[in-house]
Amino acid sequence: MLPLVNTTDERRRNLILIGFMGTGKTTIGKQVAKSLGFRFVDTDQLISQKAGKSIPDIFEDEGEETFRELETDVLQGCAAAENQVIATGGGIVTKTTNHAILKQVGYVIWLQASPETIYDRVRRNRNRPLLQTEDPEKTIRDLMEQRVGLYEAAQDMAVTTDGLTLDETAYGITESARVALGLE
Ligand code: S3P
Repeated sequence: MLPLVNTTDERRRNLILIGFMGTGKTTIGKQVAKSLGFRFVDTDQLISQKAGKSIPDIFEDEGEETFRELETDVLQGCAAAENQVIATGGGIVTKTTNHAILKQVGYVIWLQASPETIYDRVRRNRNRPLLQTEDPEKTIRDLMEQRVGLYEAAQDMAVTTDGLTLDETAYGITESARVALGLE
């Protein structure tokens, strides 16, 4: 889990978690924030607050396009502060203009998991509009195939979560973040 970029470029001191739905961005992000003494921020939560409604309701009433615009606004807003761990929605990489914003906001870690692990984690949850399909397992595989190159392009470091406990993953990320962000 060694950082793959130099950290002397112009970035804010934040850690950003990207990755597919169900890779544990929120759970792991909260734990890492606590260990680093950083504030935890979740872009989906900020979007929901801004719109005054839940994510499924935004998708249903206003469509994905509007959701994506709100997502970019919220991400841009994250650049105003430092010492944050920011968990992002799984589709944030689908707008390639977000990639440059991600890099401005901070150091980007890509959480990976296999489609099987993801299906297992999200199957009982109804708050992901894109997975309310007849065959969510296939939707996961298809979306992942479309997005893998985008995550790859946006990340500074990739972390595989399959076979690791949340604690193990959070520990690895915390230690990498200390090095990448130049923390004590
Ligand atoms: C989405 C992922 C969700 C949420 C929205 C769209 C996506 O966030 O932003 O439902 O396009 O992958 P999580 O990755 O936190 O589930």
